[in-house]
Parts: sequence; structure tokens; C-alpha cells
Amino acid sequence: MKIDYKETTNDLLKRIDIHNKFGGRDIDTWMLDLIQLKKGDTILDVGCGAGKQCFSYYKHLDGQAKITGGDVSEELLTQARLENQKINNAVTFMKLNFNKTFDLPENIFDFESCCFAIYYAEDIPFTIREMHRVLKPGGRLFSSGPMPENKKLFYDVIREATGKTIPPMPGSSRYGSEILASMKNTFSKVDVHIFENPLTFETAEPFVEYTRASLSEDRKLWTSFFNDKKEFEKIMDKIQSVAEKRIKQEGKLVMTKVVGGFLATK
Ligand SMILES: C[S@@+](CC[C@H](N)C(=O)[O-])C[C@H]1O[C@@H](n2cnc3c(N)ncnc32)[C@H](O)[C@@H]1O
Repeated sequence: MKIDYKETTNDLLKRIDIHNKFGGRDIDTWMLDLIQLKKGDTILDVGCGAGKQCFSYYKHLDGQAKITGGDVSEELLTQARLENQKINNAVTFMKLNFNKTFDLPENIFDFESCCFAIYYAEDIPFTIREMHRVLKPGGRLFSSGPMPENKKLFYDVIREATGKTIPPMPGSSRYGSEILASMKNTFSKVDVHIFENPLTFETAEPFVEYTRASLSEDRKLWTSFFNDKKEFEKIMDKIQSVAEKRIKQEGKLVMTKVVGGFLATK
């Protein structure tokens, strides 16, 4: 799949903030419980964005781990490095592209993660093989991503607002099928875990903000919906009206995130 996508710092941090404020559960706690990191581990986070997972591991292990984060976006790496200064640059951030051989030797990490990112790789089996290569024998990879039933309300509102069919998303259309199959082909064992997190909105505004930050995240994937900023704003107005109407009818909007956590062993 050809992926034409670029995350921006504002949109990513906005969505993280809305999850924190309106979500019923905390995904970082769920993940840390599942992965059981140990002090002294060498850790790589692939598609690290602004460093969310790297900083969570650092805090959880009281700084006693060698943590590296890699991402293709210079903008997000700059944001991660800014935050890293607060902990004396304890995490190493590097440029890493899913679609190229990682600039890392083989067999060096105890643990690796890739959160909400693997589906932006152009050749999934290639990227999964790279992730496998850099892990030590017996090392583990944790990946998270959207399952097909993820954010049903979000897509329902967009469908109602536009009257159009939703294009296949690179994440939810492939994560629990093609991407899971590719992990199973490469790793000796893969365990599947599911995390459900209802986000409850009593006013339309934060839902509309979330939608704006999600649609702009994947803006190039929604080409049949809008070609330019004017059309984008028109659609956002319609989305706002549908969200307000539903809140009047139902009292609130509940958008449930359904996330697959795949824990693979080399
Ligand atoms: C939704 S964000 C998730 C970031 C972070 N893991 C988090 O949970 O906050 C997806 C990330 O994948 C990164 N990404 C997209 N394409 C990539 C590529 N070809 N190589 C490496 N990273 C990529 C983006 O720059 C972005 O940081």
C-alpha cells in the first residue's frame, strides 16, 4: 500500500490530550501491565512520535534502562528531544524509516514497541523483519493499533455528515488481519490482547476537535472527501451539526477505541 501520510506535532498531541481527558481507561497502564519490562532492559520504540512510550518506560523503570526512540518525522523528533532535556537526555532519539533498513545492528534489544504506527509502513513484512532482526533471541515486540470495530461513532458521524462511503483506513482495515498475519509469519509466538476505551463527550466541541485532528492526520487518505482547506472546513461544519444533533437526542457521544495489542516473541 502506498502511504502518503505525515503526522504533525499539534494533531498528535491534541489526540493524546483528548484521550487523557475523555477516556475511561489509561492505555499506558494496560500496556505496562502486559509487557512487564525489567530494569536494565535495552528498549527500542519504533515510530516513537513525540516520545510518549519512551518517556513512559523511563518513568516506569526509574530511568534504569537503555531506551531508544526512532521516527521518520524530524518535527516529532525535535519535540521529543525538547522533552528529553527535562531528563538530561536520558533517552536516545534517532531518525528511523520503516521503509529502509534500520541503522542498527542485529540482536541488540530486549524489548521493542511500535504503537499506532506500523500500518504506515509501505511494505509491512519488510518492516516486521527489520523489527525482528534488531531484537535479541527471545526478545519481544509489542505493537498496538486499531481493530476493525475501532471508533465506530467517529465513522458513523462522518458518514452521516457527508453521505459518503468511508475509504479503507491503512490501520483498521489491515491491523487485525494482514499485519497480525505478517507478525505471526516472522515471530515464533504472538499473543493477542484487546483494549477497549470508551471516550465520553457531553458536548460536541472536544469530539469535533478530535475529528479535526484525526482527519488532518490522515488528510491525504480522505481525498474523495475534500481536496482543499475550504472543503475540509465545510465538512467540519457538517460534522459539528451531526454531533450536536446526536448529543441533543442521546445526551452524550460515546466513541469506543478498540485496540489490538500484539505481543510477539523472537
Ligand atoms: C499516530 S503516531 C504515533 C506516535 C507514538 N507512537 C504515540 O503513540 O504517540 C504515528 C507515528 O508513526 C510515524 N511514522 C509514519 N511513517 C513512518 C515511517 N515511514 N517510518 C518511521 N515512522 C513513521 C509518524 O511520524 C508518527 O510519529
